[in-house]
This record gives sequence, C-alpha cells and structure tokens, in this order.
Amino acid sequence: MQRTLIVHALAAEAPQRQITVCGWIRTRRDAKDFSFVEINDGSCLTNMQCIVDAGTAAHEGLGDASTGASVAVTGELVASPGKGQKWEVRARNVRVFGPADPASFPLQKKRHSDEFLRGIAHLRMRTNKYGAAFRIRSEAARAVHDYFHSQHFSWVHTPILTGSDCEGAGEMFRVTTLPAGEKDLSRDFFGRQANLTVSGQLEAEALALGLGRVYTFGPTFRAENSNTPRHAAEFWMIEPEMAFAELEDIMELGEGLTRHVVDHALTRCESDLKLFDSFVDKGLLDRLKGMLAQPFARVSYRDAIHILEDSGKDFTFPVAFGVDLQTEHERFLAEEHFRRPVIVYDYPREIKAFYMRGNDDGETVAAMDVLVPRIGELIGGSQREERLDKLLARIAEMGQKPEDYWWYLDLRRFGSVPHAGFGMGFERLLMMLTGITNIRDVIPFPRTPGSLEF
Ligand code: 4AD
Ligand code: MG
Repeated sequence: MQRTLIVHALAAEAPQRQITVCGWIRTRRDAKDFSFVEINDGSCLTNMQCIVDAGTAAHEGLGDASTGASVAVTGELVASPGKGQKWEVRARNVRVFGPADPASFPLQKKRHSDEFLRGIAHLRMRTNKYGAAFRIRSEAARAVHDYFHSQHFSWVHTPILTGSDCEGAGEMFRVTTLPAGEKDLSRDFFGRQANLTVSGQLEAEALALGLGRVYTFGPTFRAENSNTPRHAAEFWMIEPEMAFAELEDIMELGEGLTRHVVDHALTRCESDLKLFDSFVDKGLLDRLKGMLAQPFARVSYRDAIHILEDSGKDFTFPVAFGVDLQTEHERFLAEEHFRRPVIVYDYPREIKAFYMRGNDDGETVAAMDVLVPRIGELIGGSQREERLDKLLARIAEMGQKPEDYWWYLDLRRFGSVPHAGFGMGFERLLMMLTGITNIRDVIPFPRTPGSLEF
C-alpha cells in the first residue's frame, strides 16, 4: 500500500501534488461547504488535517465516518492557512477501511481518566498520551541498545524458564505442564520445578566471564503481591554485567546509561515529552535537562541513614542502620535532600542478596542503588563475590545448598575475576522519562495483581 507517514508528510519541504496518508480519525467537523477531518497514524503526536469538500467524490467516500474510523486520504499536500501546522491535505479521494460506531466507540473526543483507559488497554494506544508513552518506550529501548553497543557490550539472551532463584526472595512464578487440578508438583516441568526468571543475572555473570561485557534486556517476572504504582508482576529489566570491574565501574555505567537515555529522549522525542511536561508533570523537561547538567550525587548507606535520621521527617517506616530503605526514604534523599539522582552504596550485608561481595568491614557489601526523584529505586546492583570460600560461606550462612549453585560456583573455580553488574527497571526508567506515576501506564498490557484481561 503506497502511503506517506504523517511524520514525514508534516516534515515535507515543498507542497506535493499527490500523497496518501492513512490513519484513524481523531476529530471530524462538518461545515456547509466542507468537512474538516484530523487523522493520526501513530507515527507522531501531531494529526494531519484533511479538508474534504462537500459534494465531491472524496466526501462521498468519507460518508459518515467518525472518530475512531480508519481511513486513507489521498490528495494534495498544501500549505495550511491555520496556525499550529505547516501542511494539510486537500482530499481528492477518501477510503474508509473500518468504521467505528459513535454509539459504542469508547474513545470519544474528551479527556478520559487513566483508570478508565486501563480498562480498555487494547484501545488506549490511540490516544495522544499513550501513543506518546509507547513511542518514548521504543526510543528509550533503542537508546539502551545504542549505549551498550557504543561501549562494546554484547546483548545476550538469558532464559525465561529457569530452575534457580537469583534473588533468593522466593518471589517466583511456578511453571507447570500438568493438567489443571494435578497435585504432583514434583513433576512440574518435565520432571523438574521450573520458574519464570526473576533476573538473568546469574546467567549473565557466566556470559560476562567469557564475553567480557554483556547485557540482557528482556521480560522479568516477580510474584510479589505488591499492589503499588511502582511494581509489576511482569516488567522489563536491563542487566549489564562486566568482567574485570568493581563497584565504582558500575556506578559510572549506571549513571552513563541513565544520562544517555535522557539525552536521547530529549533530542528524539521532543514533542512527545512536551505533551507530558504540559499535561502530566509540569517541570518534567527542566528535571530531565537538570540530570544532564550535573553529576549524580553519591552517598554511603551509612551516611544516608544519618541524613534521614537528621531530617526531622516523620517517616512511616523508622530508619536505623540495618533497615532496608523504603520508597519514602529513597524519595526524600533524591527529591528533597540531594534534589537530583543519588547513588547509595555499601549496604548492610544482612539485607542484601547472597552474591554481593563482602566489604572488609564485615558489615556491608559492595552494593549500590541509583535513586531518582519521584520514583525511588531505578537501579540496583553490586560487585559480585568472586572468592569461592567467601561465597560458599555465605551460601551456607543463608541456609542454601551449594549443590543448587554448582555451575555458579564453577565460575569461581575456573578463572574467577572481579566482576560487577546491575539491573535497571525499564518501566521505572520510563516513569522517570514521562512523569507518569503509575507503572501500569508505561507498559502496553500491564501484568499486576488482578490484571490478566488482555
Ligand atoms: O533490585 P533488583 O531486585 O535487582 C536484581 O534483580 C539484580 N539481580 C540485578 C542485577 O544486579 N543484575 O531489581 C533491579 C531493578 C530495580 O532497581 C527496579 O528498577 C526494577 O528492577 N524492579 C522492578 N520494576 C518493576 N516491577 C517490579 N516488581 C520490580 N522489581 C524490581
Ligand atoms: Mg533492589
């Protein structure tokens, strides 16, 4: 089908005798002599205005097509006399692919609530806000790949079905091949218990110890029943892993990645970001630009606790050395204290996963989290325990069986090296980029407790 994307048509340098644009009608106004139809094809935020003169074949083709109908408009691209846009199409021919009954099409021209649109997730990508969000999602993914490739990382693919629990938090979805009602779970996955991965980290470590620098980027699953605006049961995670690297190296990598994606979005998604700055989060653009203007703050966990203790704030969860930071603490640090992203490092070992490298103080591990305003934790990572004896002792201390980690321990037996990596939640990154405050609105079909409809 010969057609011009609206994004290209709007960028034309000269009028054109004939083009065809296809899309969905956003608005239609009928005057005595002509109909004025705005269509959007998803290639950009802006609609193409089309003028369809009354009494013409084009007008007949348009028929009574209304908001939501899909159309192809062929005609002349001419300078638009109205303000706001350079070009419009004077229709010579209009073809309707599929009508949308105005009595039942739910996306009529008015502001709909996020809540309402979540209930029609299969249609909400036809609105300005969600179209923009998913275009930014695509551009952000591209920026992630570009960044890693520019730094000589290989994109690796780790399994989604796995036998191990990387985070040791017991938050895995169990996969079964058994008929409903069957009780013998030991026969789960062709004789083994299989889970959906909570993190590709352990496999990424193996890959990093052969390829040097790797990253994963794919779906990740957590069976935590946390009904919060920041947690989803299925989310996308970016997990770089670097051989011959220490904590400092991944702090730099995490900051570099975040800033690169922000920079890319500011250049490539300008009009979509402006929409969010105007209607969702006033101050978004200033905040994003501010992230490029100065380096992220850094503070040890111990000092962060002191800052929180001295803040005079009445937190719901009290703070003291040894507690896991809650979103309210993370947001206070990033939003109110440092007023920019902050990297917190050297967390108490008691609250962190078994694979994190022990520091010499015996009390903390070489872990770091990147906290950003309005979101809290964007990145969590660590230097990995590369010393076999220390790792074995930690596995025993946590009551785990070394046999379950035989291949992971091999990585420490054969050519072990200092290595480090982190996980960045892709949806959290998008919340940061758009100002959207609910994770359900940055992924097309969210998987959260109670949502499995689409
Ligand atoms: O801090 P987490 O749990 O770290 C790991 O899984 C490590 N294995 C990563 C690594 O070192 N390779 O998760 C990493 C990030 C979090 O900082 C957060 O942004 C995101 O993943 N995340 C979630 N995003 C949405 N919904 C959830 N339920 C999430 N859980 C974690
Ligand atoms: Mg974490």
